[in-house]
Amino acid sequence: MGTSAKQLGVVDITERIGSEIRTDVETLLGGQEAENIRETLKLRGVVFFRGLQISDEQQVAIAKTLGNIVANEGQDGIYKISLDKNVNEKAEYLKGSLFWHFDGSLQPYPNLATLLRAVKLSETGGQTEFCNTYAAYEDLPQADKDAIAELRVVHSAERSQYYVSPEMSYDEIAFWQKSPTKACPMVWTHRSGRKSLLLGATADYVIGLSPEESRALLARLRDWSTQPQYVYRHEWQVGDLLIWDNTGTMHRALPYSVDSGRLMHRTILAGEETLQ
Ligand SMILES: [Fe+2]
Repeated sequence: MGTSAKQLGVVDITERIGSEIRTDVETLLGGQEAENIRETLKLRGVVFFRGLQISDEQQVAIAKTLGNIVANEGQDGIYKISLDKNVNEKAEYLKGSLFWHFDGSLQPYPNLATLLRAVKLSETGGQTEFCNTYAAYEDLPQADKDAIAELRVVHSAERSQYYVSPEMSYDEIAFWQKSPTKACPMVWTHRSGRKSLLLGATADYVIGLSPEESRALLARLRDWSTQPQYVYRHEWQVGDLLIWDNTGTMHRALPYSVDSGRLMHRTILAGEETLQ
């Protein structure tokens, strides 16, 4: 960290999560600080560059200095996040992003990180909140760590849709059940040896617990992980570029109106660590 981090101008926003990085577009495009940025991202969960005002091409170029971008994710590495069906035909599905989750819980390799750039903002709402699931795990009482060490949680797309649409029809349920479910550990032990909690809106049930115990435990750990000391709320300005470590955080957008015009351009970095 030390000297190189200082060269980047890293300003921690809260104690446990979120840093602003002050640098210029040329430095980011050159890639000479890419390792520092990745390191800072791992330590801080979220980093952002205020008002960077870059193009789509520059966003993708910066992403490529940091990892492998997910090729099929939208055209040329840019995916448009909007709740307006005219902009994104999957707008209905994206409403699930208003609830705590991490991306790619159903994939073999959850995404490493996501870059999000504010193109147009809603007049009200639309902030994005992040919580640090490394810090939340580290602070758990030892008895909880012991109790959850071996637990596995089944994640499903169907489960996350109940947040958006609590009274789904049979046809809707049948549709979401076509997506395969996936069992993930509740505690993710990373290659680094650090551990984080794996929860979120796709977390359906804990294997081996009664339905009541399972729901209560998942809610208790989510409440724990989203306490103010683990949360950073980003108040967007147009042109901001923000990156979150998707392997050590959860996120959610705060509500905003569907016709607000809010538009984010997203680029995803492919996961490098699988979940056993
Ligand atoms: Fe997301």
